[in-house]
Amino acid sequence: MTQMSFDGQVVLVTGAGRGIAREVALQFAALGARVAVCDLSAERAADTAAAVERAGGTTLCFGADVGNEAAVMDMVGAIASQWGPVENLINAAGSYGAAFRPTHETPVEEWDAVFGSNVRGSFICAKAVLPGMMEARRGRIVNFSSNAGRSVSPLLGCSYTAAKTAIIGLTRHLSREYAGYGIRVNTIAPGPVNAERVADLIGGEQAVRDLAAQIPLGRLAEPADIVEGVLFLCADASRFVTGTILDVSGGYVLA
Ligand SMILES: NC(=O)c1ccc[n+]([C@@H]2O[C@H](COP(=O)([O-])OP(=O)(O)OC[C@H]3O[C@@H](n4cnc5c(N)ncnc54)[C@H](O)[C@@H]3O)[C@@H](O)[C@H]2O)c1
Repeated sequence: MTQMSFDGQVVLVTGAGRGIAREVALQFAALGARVAVCDLSAERAADTAAAVERAGGTTLCFGADVGNEAAVMDMVGAIASQWGPVENLINAAGSYGAAFRPTHETPVEEWDAVFGSNVRGSFICAKAVLPGMMEARRGRIVNFSSNAGRSVSPLLGCSYTAAKTAIIGLTRHLSREYAGYGIRVNTIAPGPVNAERVADLIGGEQAVRDLAAQIPLGRLAEPADIVEGVLFLCADASRFVTGTILDVSGGYVLA
């Protein structure tokens, strides 16, 4: 069996200012990787980077919008000049619209923002790191879908369901296109996670209990449950896995 080690590897985690991706960044660093932390909020990114450093990790920190091609190219260039090309890209950044808003009341601006951070952002970040991976003939990309993209969002609007579904299409396409270069591209699809976002959206202990009751394994995911899936998809243990969707939903999604 292969041991999981990311010693010295270069990892870029987007949306790492809070929630799941913050834990992803911390765990990669704990396993020896050099971790670049990106978030739209420079303050949150700096906070995560400081936590990585406090834990003895090596990090770079970027306040950048993943939907802004120039900003992403600058970021990936800066990482390459200090550490070399990105070897693992974790496309976790993604915004969401209002809860329980019907489609006929959804502003086009919400649709554009949700697609901008989730779909356009994942595309741009992949576009930026692929040439370095192609040259190295090796690389891993993990995109973030959701139970919403595997079925339909019970909480967020059509923009979120459609964006998280599009990420699966992007994953499939990239996996075929770049497999010949030794680049693996997969999607992780978390179910509801016990982190800031769900607390912001539904709040209240009773609401969380009600949601947990709908999940066959009887609880929300913890961020660590999702982190393990991401690590697996980047590790040698998944060396023959590409183009797949890893549901980490406690049985909430059966697709
Ligand atoms: N939390 C859940 O229950 C859940 C369930 C399924 C899927 N997901 C997905 O997992 C990923 C992480 O979820 P989370 O709950 O930790 O998210 P979160 O909302 O807590 O954090 C997302 C982070 O991404 C950043 N971000 C948003 N837009 C950005 C942009 N354009 N550029 C750079 N950074 C940007 C935000 O500032 C924030 O810090 C997301 O893609 C989310 O859709 C989450």
